[in-house]
Amino acid sequence: MGTASVTVFGGSGFIGRHLVAQLVTSGARVRIAVRHSNRLSDHRPETVAADVLDDASVASAVDGASSVVNLVGILSQSGLHTYAAIHVKGARRVAVAARDAGVSRLIHVSALGATRTAPALSDRTKAEGEEVVRAAFPEATIIRPSLVFGRDDHFFTRLAEMARCSPILPLIGGGATKFQPAHVEDVAAAMVKVLERSDTAGRTYEFGGPEVYSFRELLERLLATVGWRRVLVSVPFPLGREFGGCPGAAARTSPDPRSSASAEDGQNQQRERADTCRSWRRPTDLRAFLRAFRAKYG
Ligand SMILES: NC(=O)c1ccc[n+]([C@@H]2O[C@H](COP(=O)([O-])OP(=O)(O)OC[C@H]3O[C@@H](n4cnc5c(N)ncnc54)[C@H](OP(=O)(O)O)[C@@H]3O)[C@@H](O)[C@H]2O)c1
Repeated sequence: MGTASVTVFGGSGFIGRHLVAQLVTSGARVRIAVRHSNRLSDHRPETVAADVLDDASVASAVDGASSVVNLVGILSQSGLHTYAAIHVKGARRVAVAARDAGVSRLIHVSALGATRTAPALSDRTKAEGEEVVRAAFPEATIIRPSLVFGRDDHFFTRLAEMARCSPILPLIGGGATKFQPAHVEDVAAAMVKVLERSDTAGRTYEFGGPEVYSFRELLERLLATVGWRRVLVSVPFPLGREFGGCPGAAARTSPDPRSSASAEDGQNQQRERADTCRSWRRPTDLRAFLRAFRAKYG
């Protein structure tokens, strides 16, 4: 990345932390835009205060940057932090600020299930977010990841914590929802490549790993690898939301159901396999990652 200067919104999150590390390794000057001033740091990479709900802080965070990455997303709504505010207005605010600041490259991170007709509001607002970003910054590169796994992820780590203290695990919607999991390091590496290659401007990429699994298969693999026996109980999607600590509940405390499919409403939206980052990098194996869980929990 040489002398590029990259502002990363959402750089304190799961994917953001891995992306920032890889950008720094690639030689880029990275500025992480964080919401909370107690996370500001004088150390490299630079951190600045920015909330995507606020025009002035977003404009200031992109000032002087040659590239911007927007990873901001939420799983549940609270107060002013609605899906519309974050996924649509916030996404537009970042795109407009990037355009007005003369930024050359913008990566906007959406989700694989994002369509205007998706059953889940979060996915519909992600789709609307893509549209407003494209309108404000036509050369933006939009990335739609499937489920992203890795150390401290929102999915396996939380499922494992749940399995550790419960003999029963909920199979939301019968566990048929399909995922095409991609390792976070592969996703981050592909994003760095996107920034490096000018021919990715204006394009939309779907990021998924090499295999497609149902939610039940992922859960069974996790349990088998760690050596746990748990009773899997099928739970309808609307009821799943009440669990608070279960996949498909779309709650901040639950394993992250964001995937190629809407776990909330039980409609598999994965019509075809996502393009993967594997043409750019050999994908990290899910089995190898799960074996690390055996070391930690087994
Ligand atoms: N993880 C997955 O499996 C997956 C799958 C598909 C798509 N995605 C998408 O990928 C993106 C990153 O996902 P992730 O798993 O890394 O999410 P995450 O760990 O929840 O991180 C979200 C980031 O957004 C920031 N944020 C939230 N509200 C904000 C606001 N008002 N202003 C500024 N920053 C704000 C958070 O900052 P704080 O630290 O201040 O909370 C955090 O850094 C999201 O857009 C998500 O929808 C993720």
